[in-house]
Amino acid sequence: MHKVELKEVGLDIGLAFSKHFYKTEYLHYGYWPEELSVEPANVFQAQENYANFLLKNIPEGVNSILDVGCGSGKFAEKMLDAGYLVDCVSPSPNLTKHVRNRLGDRAEIFESCFEDVRTEKRYDLILCSESFQYLLLEKAIAQTMLFSNSEGFLLICDFFKRDVPGKSPVSGGHRIERFFKYMDEQPFNKLTDIDITKEAAPSLDIMRDLIQEVIAPTWNIVAYYMRSNYPRFSKIFSFAFRKKIAQAHRKYLSGGTSGEQFAHFKTYRLFLYQKKG
Ligand SMILES: C[S@@+](CC[C@H](N)C(=O)[O-])C[C@H]1O[C@@H](n2cnc3c(N)ncnc32)[C@H](O)[C@@H]1O
Repeated sequence: MHKVELKEVGLDIGLAFSKHFYKTEYLHYGYWPEELSVEPANVFQAQENYANFLLKNIPEGVNSILDVGCGSGKFAEKMLDAGYLVDCVSPSPNLTKHVRNRLGDRAEIFESCFEDVRTEKRYDLILCSESFQYLLLEKAIAQTMLFSNSEGFLLICDFFKRDVPGKSPVSGGHRIERFFKYMDEQPFNKLTDIDITKEAAPSLDIMRDLIQEVIAPTWNIVAYYMRSNYPRFSKIFSFAFRKKIAQAHRKYLSGGTSGEQFAHFKTYRLFLYQKKG
């Protein structure tokens, strides 16, 4: 049986929460312009803004797109509706079910990590919408080289680690300096570099409020119930899983991370690269 990783479970839970609370099935951050007030009712709009921003940055002349790490397939659907030919890469079996339900036979779905995809197909654009951070840098670029047409594009919209001292409470992201250095040595020209950290960061404030107001209190009530009704079991469970519980507390329940902290440690960028002819 496929061994499920914690980050995969996190994305599945994220999708259930987003669908229920925010009526959206995107798994990326929102794009919050100054005039959009940061509150749960506006998450839907912020994520639509992000999707529109991405769509706007697909260069003219592009016809076929490989959506790497397509989440629930919502953005792939948007691109199909806009007239593009789209295929998807989706390594998570649970998310892939959503993608198949949504897209049917409108797109081919490669159910594997991007690093392991094998196909003869070639694309005008390889898209990584908040999925680049999960990929092994060298392999992702090698696969992009292989699967893109000559003078094809690579569009990345994701966050990266800034080179600042201290430990970020938000994990994930390639180190930006290392990424730049690596890309400088690859046969790609950088065409676009847009910093959207300020517009993406409020998503963390929304997440922090959800943790403080819903997730942490729920967890605490369940833990209290278990301790008072099943003290022996609770003790054994807490001891056996002490490391995992401490990690979950630190990462998910400790009050959350603010947008300000995020912006200190991370930089959220849209990059468009073009393969040299
Ligand atoms: C944060 S979600 C972004 C989903 C979607 N692109 C969006 O913008 O809503 C990250 C996606 O990356 C996928 N992913 C994780 N590791 C991957 C890998 N090695 N290869 C391809 N996709 C991967 C996850 O399954 C998920 O679909």
